[in-house]
Amino acid sequence: MWQGIISQYKNYLDCINNKTPVVTINEGNTPLVYSHNLSKLIGAEVYLKYEGLNPTGSFKDRGMTVAISKAKEDKSKAVICASTGNTSASASAYAAKAGLKSIVLVPEGAIALGKLSQALIHGAIVLQVKGNFDDALNMVREISSKYPITLVNSINPYRLEGQKTGAFEICDCLGGAPDFQVMPVGNAGNITAYWKGYKEYREKGKIKVLPKMLGFQAAGAAPIVKGHIIRKPKTIATAIRIGNPASWRRAQEARDESGGLIDMVSDKEILSAYKFLAQKEGVFVEPASAASVAGLFKLVKKGYFSRIRPKPSLGCPDAGRTTRIVCILTGHGLKDPDMVLATIKKPKVIKADIKAVLKEIGY
Ligand code: F0G
Repeated sequence: MWQGIISQYKNYLDCINNKTPVVTINEGNTPLVYSHNLSKLIGAEVYLKYEGLNPTGSFKDRGMTVAISKAKEDKSKAVICASTGNTSASASAYAAKAGLKSIVLVPEGAIALGKLSQALIHGAIVLQVKGNFDDALNMVREISSKYPITLVNSINPYRLEGQKTGAFEICDCLGGAPDFQVMPVGNAGNITAYWKGYKEYREKGKIKVLPKMLGFQAAGAAPIVKGHIIRKPKTIATAIRIGNPASWRRAQEARDESGGLIDMVSDKEILSAYKFLAQKEGVFVEPASAASVAGLFKLVKKGYFSRIRPKPSLGCPDAGRTTRIVCILTGHGLKDPDMVLATIKKPKVIKADIKAVLKEIGY
């Protein structure tokens, strides 16, 4: 039986020892779904890593199981985070399971309803800050440095330790690393964690080559692409509405060491990919997650993959193999039901009459 990422990958998690009280809700082991449509379109094998199927509906659970287990081992009584929503949902659930108090600071009115509901029902102290994510993060950094409260944002190294297991699962599933990994970038912890995971798997001899890391920010919240802090980040993808990412430098390292890129996509491109995933692939994600597929479309239009594909050479064991691309779909669509209603026409109201139904459905 799958018992969560710590149990599965403890040999790759140096911070876990025999005394660590493992707090898990059986996160991880998420599906890697083959996309026929995207594969055909690009002439490559394209897979979707559906992280929305983690226990609290996002990839944050991979990091939170490690961060909360270590907080418990270190006898912490309370945890704190700033969040655009998913970190707070995950922290609150794992803290509840561990019996720890959780405190979350979120930007007022700027997080999706599902995520706010999660933090509330799990019993967190939820404070809405009149400011943005970056303001909230500055405050929790300061509070956790002065009071005995553990910070569980991705500045906490245990978070990245857990999140790197996403890379392990992809490699285990494909029997090697993909050629490209595409993902959204917000606070930039996840791209850092994945890159760490791939590098460690190579060091341990589990994979031979590393993927190119392709990150995408929302155009109104793209500090890494633009090279400066964005004071008032704006995007419909609230999860990645961040103007000063904590792991900025490490995201650039992942990009440069892997020979990849960090680019941006507009809200229009994000919404188009959001609908594509739901209506062509049957996969419902939140807008921020659709940024990866929006980015993929953008690169395809530019001819990026045909340009960059390595030429098969004699003596290369992989000669002629199809290019493999994995898109990380970071969070579930149910997190943000308001976005559907803002995007798609509301359903018609009709009389309780079969004739009226048949007329509407064209029979
Ligand atoms: N996708 C989703 C659904 C997210 O919730 C986040 C980050 C990201 C992508 C970006 O990941 O920050 O590691 O680059 N959400 C954080 C939060 C900031 O508070 O829930 P990142």
